[in-house]
Order: sequence, then C-alpha cells, then structure tokens
Amino acid sequence: MAPMYKHVIKPLFFKFGPEGVHDFMVAIGKFMGSFSLGRSFLAMIYGYRGPDISKTVDGVYYKTPILLSAGFDYNGNLTQVLPSLSFGGVEVGSITAQPCEGNPKPRLTRLPFSKSILVNKGLKNDGIEAVLARLAKKQKMKDFVIGLSFARTNNSKTCSTEAGIEDYLFSLRKAVEAGIGDYYTLNISCPNAFGGEAFSTPELLGKLMIEVDKVARTKPLYIKMPLTILDNVFMQLLGILDQHNVQGVIIGNLQKDYSTIDKRDPVPEKYRGGLSGKPCWTRSNELIAMTKKEYKDRFTIVGCGGVFSYEDAQIKFDLGADLIHLITGMIYEGPGLIKKICQGISRHPSSVGRAHHS
Ligand SMILES: Cc1cc2nc3c(=O)[nH]c(=O)nc-3n(C[C@H](O)[C@H](O)[C@H](O)COP(=O)(O)O)c2cc1C
Repeated sequence: MAPMYKHVIKPLFFKFGPEGVHDFMVAIGKFMGSFSLGRSFLAMIYGYRGPDISKTVDGVYYKTPILLSAGFDYNGNLTQVLPSLSFGGVEVGSITAQPCEGNPKPRLTRLPFSKSILVNKGLKNDGIEAVLARLAKKQKMKDFVIGLSFARTNNSKTCSTEAGIEDYLFSLRKAVEAGIGDYYTLNISCPNAFGGEAFSTPELLGKLMIEVDKVARTKPLYIKMPLTILDNVFMQLLGILDQHNVQGVIIGNLQKDYSTIDKRDPVPEKYRGGLSGKPCWTRSNELIAMTKKEYKDRFTIVGCGGVFSYEDAQIKFDLGADLIHLITGMIYEGPGLIKKICQGISRHPSSVGRAHHS
C-alpha cells in the first residue's frame, strides 16, 4: 500500500490545493469511520497487529504511543476511524471558546523539498460547544485516547490578557463539565492568531497557569510549547510550569524560522505562517533533550515535529519523549506510516521505555 500512496495517490493529491485535499480526506475518514465494515477494511490494511506496544502515561492507557497531532482533526470528526490506522489517540483541535473562520485563504502551502507545509490556518474550528456536542454523540472507541487542545479564540476581542485567560478557561471548564477528553492541552504557541503567541512569555504564562490551577480536574494537562524560542526563555517557561498543576509538555508547535526552508521550494513574497514537518525536526529534538536533562521525569514529554519514519520516532523516544504526535509525516508518507512505526517499536520495545508516569 505504501508504494500505491507514494506513486499514485500522493501525486494526484498534490495536484490539488492542500486545504481541499485535507477536507476531502476528513470527509472520507468520517465516512469510513461511521460503519464497522469501513473501519475493519481500513484496519485490515493499516491496523497494527503485532506484540503489545501499549503504555500508560499519566494514568491514560495508549494502545500505541503514536497520536495524530492537533490541527488535522480540529472539529472531532475522525475519532472513529483513527484507531484503524494504528493511532493510539488524537489531539482534537485546537478548539477555541467561540467558533473561528480562520485566516483568509490560501492558508496552507506545500513545500515539498522541505517536507513541510506552511500553515496559516488561524484556528479554523466550530468552537468548544459544537465540538463537545459532536464528540458526545459518538460512541467512544475502545482504548483510543482523545485529547482536547484549547487555544485562544482568534479575534481582536480576546487580545487582552484577562479576556485571553477567560477564553481558555471557558473551553477547559466546558470540557471538564462534559466529562469529555482523556487529557487536555493548552496551546499557548499558535503562531497564526490575532495578537500572536500571547501566553508564551514567562510572565503571562504564569498568570494563565494561576487561573488554570483553579479549575478542578482529574485528567492530565499538557502545554503545547513554541519551537522558535531562545533556550533560556524556553527554560523559563518550564520553570513556571514546574510550579503548577501541569503534567507534561508537547514539544512543539510550528517552526517560525524560515531559514529552515529548502532553497528549491518557491517562497511567495507574502509568506506568513508556521512551518510543519522537517523544519521542526532539529529544534524539537534539541528542546526535548534539554527538557529531559533538566527536569528528568517531572514532565511527560510528547515529541512532535518532523517524524517521517520509525527511526525518527525512535530518536525522539531516545531523547526522552514518552509519546509521539505527528501530522506531516502522514501527509507525505501516507497513512501506512503509523503501522510501520508501531512495527518498528515492536522490534525494539525496551528502547521506547515503559512510562514512569502511570
Ligand atoms: C495543517 C496544520 C494545522 C495545524 N494546526 C494546529 C493547531 O490547531 N493546534 C496546534 O497545537 N498545532 C497545530 N499544528 C501543528 C502540529 O500539531 C504540529 O505541532 C506540527 O505540525 C509539527 O508536527 P509534524 O511535523 O508532525 O506536522 C498544525 C499543523 C498543521 C500541518
């Protein structure tokens, strides 16, 4: 199936705009996930069926340690189909308190030589209430983890610190009340929203976390960290998080350093947005290693950025990641990638490590 994707399906998809292809894939995925024959058919091709590679992290059981990262299933449409593709979970979102239209199109650009997508989506999503209602209607798939990623609503009204904090809290409280989501993530590092990455300075992150601590919850909370950040500021952010009721960090979000773009990719003049895929690889690994070295097992570490193979995933595990999130690798390599990573893990189970956070 992998050659079929690489040589037939991908070249066809890449003739169309990335957002149209994405919407098409979500529609197919939603359809295939809606009936058991569709799910079984996909599982026959893409489902991992080897030795047990499950792990429990912060009390949450993951059948496989690979999750679909935030930004692909932003409205919670794919939770039925993703287990058939060997994913252990999905991070739905990022979801905002109010529905968001997103930034004007085009807001996704493929950079094939860089193995990347330039993302300027601007948090398009239906808003927390609609997404929770959708998830509540569906039967939850066994042993499939649903994370909920919250971001600040992308408009001028939420730009002030107080309004921004209230916006995150609204979504978090709604999810807690509904009892939906196995873990929560605060996305403090979306580069493409009104007012920028408002809560990725130590001072403002501290203010946000004081209020977040007041929301009673039983599920783990993770913070999606920025990648394009100085080492010392990143460490200051971790220092703040260390003082709060936070279980882990996802390292990390999109890369904003355009020098990571391969020169062969055309660079439109008015480039805006963050880079996914391989441009995230090195910085993500550096920050994972720094976090592990400095904080040992204090934080669960979710490795995210540029995973295109089992070997890539293994490097992140070796550096200290407990789980992996990915999107762009699946877009470039096809949906068979996740099964291949799981097979690789099953051949080297000890090096992935059993999570200490259970
Ligand atoms: C189309 C697209 C949309 C994204 N939207 C979000 C988002 O809403 N929230 C978020 O936390 N990350 C978002 N991301 C970032 C990814 O979750 C991930 O951090 C980044 O792409 C690096 O992983 P990758 O190299 O495996 O794609 C998005 C990425 C892509 C490609």
